[in-house]
Order: sequence, then structure tokens, then C-alpha cells
Amino acid sequence: MIIAIDGYSSCGKSTVAKAIAKRLKLNYIDSGAMYRAVTYYFLQNNIPFSKTADVIADYSSILENIQIEFIRNEQTGQSEIYLNGKNIEAEIRQMDVSDNVSYVSAIKSVRKKLVAMQQQMSTLGNLVMDGRDIGTTVFPNADLKIFMTASPEVRVYRRYHELIEKGIKVTPDEIRKNIELRDYEDTHREESPLRKPDDAIILDNTYMSRDEQVQFVLDAVAKLKKAI
Ligand code: DC
Repeated sequence: MIIAIDGYSSCGKSTVAKAIAKRLKLNYIDSGAMYRAVTYYFLQNNIPFSKTADVIADYSSILENIQIEFIRNEQTGQSEIYLNGKNIEAEIRQMDVSDNVSYVSAIKSVRKKLVAMQQQMSTLGNLVMDGRDIGTTVFPNADLKIFMTASPEVRVYRRYHELIEKGIKVTPDEIRKNIELRDYEDTHREESPLRKPDDAIILDNTYMSRDEQVQFVLDAVAKLKKAI
């Protein structure tokens, strides 16, 4: 079974996806972490990119030097992202990565490479993957598609507390600006922009607890199984 969870930045996709993966014993893949890893690599290696158009005609040879893996942390039970053998789980959540990831993820060859890697991951077996184009581009035939959204205020509040708890220094205003920027860039890019897949179920979690959201998806899975 493949479950695709798409939606806006900071509306809790990964929290729900991780909980569903645990309950249903599915693999979980955070596709946003992969775009963040490439962005981190570009920033670290001073690879030029722009906010309006590709600076380098073909990024393919640069992308060949990028190896991304998810490895399970036995202590936490969570899978963590590695870039060329180095755990970069903390680095990719920093604001410099958040501020640039929408530009790097709009580059055609970056999307081509990561979409191919994500599709390849379905050979691992059943999985839940969250992102922006999972139900539209990566797995258009996913068994279940969920499109998550929440009010901007709630998203700012949740992301602010998440980062503060991780020890990352930010202000609510920085978070708000970053969310607005990413919403705009992610929905307006040429290459597989964020949009609700026609056959997705909408999950607006503005007034929902985490458990209610998880139950919402579990109910959708149960309905699906009954229908098969
Ligand atoms: O899920 P996230 O906020 O960590 O994702 C970071 C950025 O990566 C997001 O602003 C847009 C991009 N992204 C994408 O373009 N396609 C995906 N499938 C996942 C993320």
C-alpha cells in the first residue's frame, strides 16, 4: 500500500505520516528532507542558484555527487537523513536551508533526480511519503491520497514551537515570512507545483489534535480496505 500525503508547509504532514507509518507498519519517507538535503549541499558548496531561473543550464553532473540515504536511528526508532554518509538531520532544519529550499526544489533536474529516487523507494514495499507532489507526480496511482492544510496562524504557532524545542533560535515573524514565501514559491513553480490531487481527501487540521488527525487517516485506510 502507498499513502501519499501532500500539503502546505508546517501543517503537520510529517507528524501524521510518521504516526500512520508506525501504526500500519509502513516505511516512512520525508521527501521534503531530500529537497532540504540538496539545498544544504548547494549552500555548503557554493553552488549557484537563483530565485527566478536556473543559473546553470544542467545541474546533472553536480547532482551525481549527491548521495542521499535514510538510516534508522535505533535509539529513537526514527529514520534520519544522510548526505554523502553524514547525518544532516539537524542541519536541514536550520533557517538558511528553509529560506532557500523552495528555490532549489524548483530546479528541473533536481526534481527529476529526487522524483526518480522516491519512485525507486516503493520497491521497499508499503510506504507513506509526504511532500508537495507525491499524489500528483511521484505516485499518481497511490492507494490513498491525503491533502493537508491548516490556518496560517496555527501553522506559524506549531512550527515556531517545534523549532524552539529543537534549540533553533527564531522569531514568530521569521517563521511567518518563511511560510508565506514557501507557500507562494511551492504553488507557483513551473515544475510539479503544489496542488491538491483531484482524488485526494482534504484534511484541514486547524482545530484537530494529533490523535484526531491520525484517526482521520486510519478511518480513510479502513474505508479503502472495505471497498477493495
Ligand atoms: O516538507 P518540508 O517543509 O520539509 O519541505 C521543504 C521544501 O521542499 C518545501 O518548501 C518545498 C520542497 N518540496 C518539494 O518541492 N516537493 C516535495 N515533494 C517535498 C518538498
